Amino acid sequence: MMKDIYILGIESSCDETSCSIVKNGCEEIATVISSQIDIHKNFGGVVPEIASRQHVKNITMVIEDCLQQANMKIEDVDAIAVTYGPGLIGSLLIGLEAAKTLAYIYNKPLIPVHHIAGHIYANNLVKKMEFPLLALVVSGGHTELVYMKEDLSFEILGGTLDDAVGECYDKVARVVGIPYPGGPSIDKLAAIGKKSYKLPLPLDDNSYNFSFSGLKSAVINLAHNEEQRGNELNKEDLAASFQNVVVEIIGKKVEKAMEEKGIKYFVTAGGVAANKRLRERLSNICEEKNIDYCFPAIRYCTDNAAMIAAAGYYYFLKNRTSGFIINAKSSEVLK
Ligand code: KG4
Ligand code: ZN
Repeated sequence: MMKDIYILGIESSCDETSCSIVKNGCEEIATVISSQIDIHKNFGGVVPEIASRQHVKNITMVIEDCLQQANMKIEDVDAIAVTYGPGLIGSLLIGLEAAKTLAYIYNKPLIPVHHIAGHIYANNLVKKMEFPLLALVVSGGHTELVYMKEDLSFEILGGTLDDAVGECYDKVARVVGIPYPGGPSIDKLAAIGKKSYKLPLPLDDNSYNFSFSGLKSAVINLAHNEEQRGNELNKEDLAASFQNVVVEIIGKKVEKAMEEKGIKYFVTAGGVAANKRLRERLSNICEEKNIDYCFPAIRYCTDNAAMIAAAGYYYFLKNRTSGFIINAKSSEVLK
């Protein structure tokens, strides 16, 4: 029998400082997430400079708390995995430096993990992924359809040409006066609204690409027109109408990819994977097509280190470790 492998993961690419220990890429031992949302809320979005400073303040405590919860010492882990990109450069650097320091002092392999690979592997913490699979990545910074024939093999079928879905949710939320991050609130409002506002289905073509900036503008225009006419904007209905269009276009492209690629398994990843209506629609599609599927736990849809440690295990198995020369990358394609 193979020896158990424990990976300590660190994530700091945006506004969450997080550390986690995961066993064999699928079993969570302990995870600590320190969120800065309450600080950035005051500015309507993440302020990179403030985010880096908060990471500096939090990182040591987050790592120590995690080890304590796991009842482990760094000596007990097999490798240190860390998000090296993409993300905010100042934020990434804090996690990466912490990881390098630990790897150096304790003589552990250093594993640089791509943030989106991490998001996808959040599903592995629910049950081991099966291949070939299709992954829908929907977050604040990404909207991508990814085909995987095996672990860590990523073929990007398409992605957004402009705004990411989560970004679009956040901007629409701002139009109706909801604070950052607005995605979860729009999700709740939509559940009680009616799809009464007419909005265009964005980039309804044969490609696997998405475009959300036109939809965002359509929502802003609609709000202005209603205001000029002296009509009160119905927030619930606007949320429901907007969300319906988003879920429809995503569903349509997911179905097409499933048919063309002949997959066995389907996963969703990223912050917007928490969306209730999206989950419903995607589950229905999978059930109709008899495709096995999985969603990450709600707390692991948004940024966390458990997903980084889970993905890190597969990098470890493939010997994808790095020297201390590795640098943070603010933009980096999934590979
Ligand atoms: O994955 P994530 O933490 O950040 C990136 O790596 O980009 O995702 C954050 C995004 C935010 O835009 C947030 O509004 C959105 O995920 N989000 C949601 C929901 N929960 C979070 N969007 C729609 N419905 C939700 N329930
Ligand atoms: Zn993320």
